[in-house]
Amino acid sequence: MDDRVYAQKQAVVAPFRFDARVAAAFDDMAHRSIPGYEECLNLCVRIVAEEAITGDIVVDLGTSTGALPSRIRDEIRDRELRIIGVDASPEMLEIAARRCGERVELVEARLEDWEPPAARITVLNYLLQFVPAQHRLRILTAIADTAPRPSVIILSEKLAPSNAAEAARWQASYDAFKRGNGYSDLEIEQKRAALDGVLVPLTLSENIALLHEAGYEEVYVAARSLQFATIVGRR
Ligand SMILES: C[S@@+](CC[C@H](N)C(=O)[O-])C[C@H]1O[C@@H](n2cnc3c(N)ncnc32)[C@H](O)[C@@H]1O
Repeated sequence: MDDRVYAQKQAVVAPFRFDARVAAAFDDMAHRSIPGYEECLNLCVRIVAEEAITGDIVVDLGTSTGALPSRIRDEIRDRELRIIGVDASPEMLEIAARRCGERVELVEARLEDWEPPAARITVLNYLLQFVPAQHRLRILTAIADTAPRPSVIILSEKLAPSNAAEAARWQASYDAFKRGNGYSDLEIEQKRAALDGVLVPLTLSENIALLHEAGYEEVYVAARSLQFATIVGRR
């Protein structure tokens, strides 16, 4: 379904939620709102194809409508993997269940209350930015500590700017990206208001430091598009 969530003028813009309306429009929303979204999914599938062996667990946290686990299931057929998708939104998981079928396990849980399995590869694409900041290090550390060695974490996030000049430049280019994908100025403005205080990004160096602190020895930027980055950690 086309993303029309913010197309009509709203008297009061409520804080953004991953509810039924957003879930129904999410695939279109992700493609039109996240620069480099397709490349990010392709990169994740490639890393799983290169690293995972039969018997490994691969977890996609904040799986939404199951775009990534369904691709992993379809594209990596030469070995048996346990593919798990986790999300707090039942409306998202309902769509993911239809898309993923039986080869993907779907779990409804908040990251703050979830106990990680021993996963070879854990993916958090555009999720951690929605988790309260005080929980982020504990969650990443638990993932690292529970994982077998070697293990990989893939963290994709919208980045916070480091200064006012960067903030203005990034905002202008992101707005242009969204306009280019058919969003009106009203939609852009209302979505920004809805996400204020709900999506709380860190700078690139803060995200890298967080992964180091969680226990990942090797951390590097694997992809970047505007102010969205995919960072890989290995230990
Ligand atoms: C931007 S979407 C992630 C997109 C998805 N990874 C993809 O690539 O298509 C964020 C997802 O995280 C989920 N989410 C938000 N906060 C969460 C939390 N605290 N625990 C678990 N899931 C959460 C939302 O329900 C939503 O589906």
